[in-house]
Amino acid sequence: MSLRKLYYSLSPNLRFIARKIYYSPIDAWETLSRKRHKYEPLKGDIYTGSGDFIKQGNHHLELLIKHISLVPSDHVLDIGSGIGRTASALTNYIDKNGSYKGFDVVKKGVDWCKNRITKDNLNFEFLYVPLQNDLYNQSIGDAKAFTFPYKNDSFTKSFLFSVFTHMQKDEIENYLKEISRVLKPSGQCLATFFTYNQETENFTASNPGFNFPVNKETHRLMNAEVTAANIALFEPELDRMIAAAGLEKRAFIPGFWRDQGLKAKGRDFQDVLILKKV
Ligand SMILES: C[S@@+](CC[C@H](N)C(=O)[O-])C[C@H]1O[C@@H](n2cnc3c(N)ncnc32)[C@H](O)[C@@H]1O
Repeated sequence: MSLRKLYYSLSPNLRFIARKIYYSPIDAWETLSRKRHKYEPLKGDIYTGSGDFIKQGNHHLELLIKHISLVPSDHVLDIGSGIGRTASALTNYIDKNGSYKGFDVVKKGVDWCKNRITKDNLNFEFLYVPLQNDLYNQSIGDAKAFTFPYKNDSFTKSFLFSVFTHMQKDEIENYLKEISRVLKPSGQCLATFFTYNQETENFTASNPGFNFPVNKETHRLMNAEVTAANIALFEPELDRMIAAAGLEKRAFIPGFWRDQGLKAKGRDFQDVLILKKV
């Protein structure tokens, strides 16, 4: 069994515990040597992916400035804010004329952000929403029927880093409509996806390291049991969903998950899509 499959075979709670145990020596060392950034959680608490937490957050900030022209006075919505990877970087950028709101389905992550980030930055707010996701929790709320708890036209910018890659197709469809509702006219959204079309389908189906064997016609799943493990959307279906939500696709930057050659061009792992409210 591959390490990835073994990881997915654990329950969300057991995954949290396994991570905590695995990283405990390095966390102890970093605590003793005071090596941790003030907005960096313990490695054992970072349930949102591996790599350098602070560098990745700074990279997200660069992408937001480059692709959706983020400015310090923007009012931003971070959907799937996790344990504050992007928010940490934004604390150095969003100023008192702007604001940050983030929500997530994992309470531990939201609590960490409230205790550490909101404490010093009162214009940064985090909200826990108890929606079900079989990779991250055992809640029962239904993301495909969820109304974001914000008024129409509240935000100038929105973003989702590695969130639509862990949701179901009908949930994504609902979230796109909600993003359109809460963005101001001409507001922009940066979201990462795994997408494929007829030309790339064979490649993605046969990539041994990272593939999506479960074919659901409009999308593909990496794992039949843990349906949120990773999802790839069929591009024409995603285009239909984007248009139906009243959004316009402004740019599509393919990621190197589908073609290692793109890594040398400085691309991100996931596909990056830029959407604008029509
Ligand atoms: C790979 S993590 C990325 C977190 C964060 N965006 C980052 O880049 O650090 C995916 C996040 O999506 C959240 N998530 C999953 N389903 C969600 C949903 N329906 N609504 C909001 N967040 C969700 C998970 O709890 C997790 O924090």
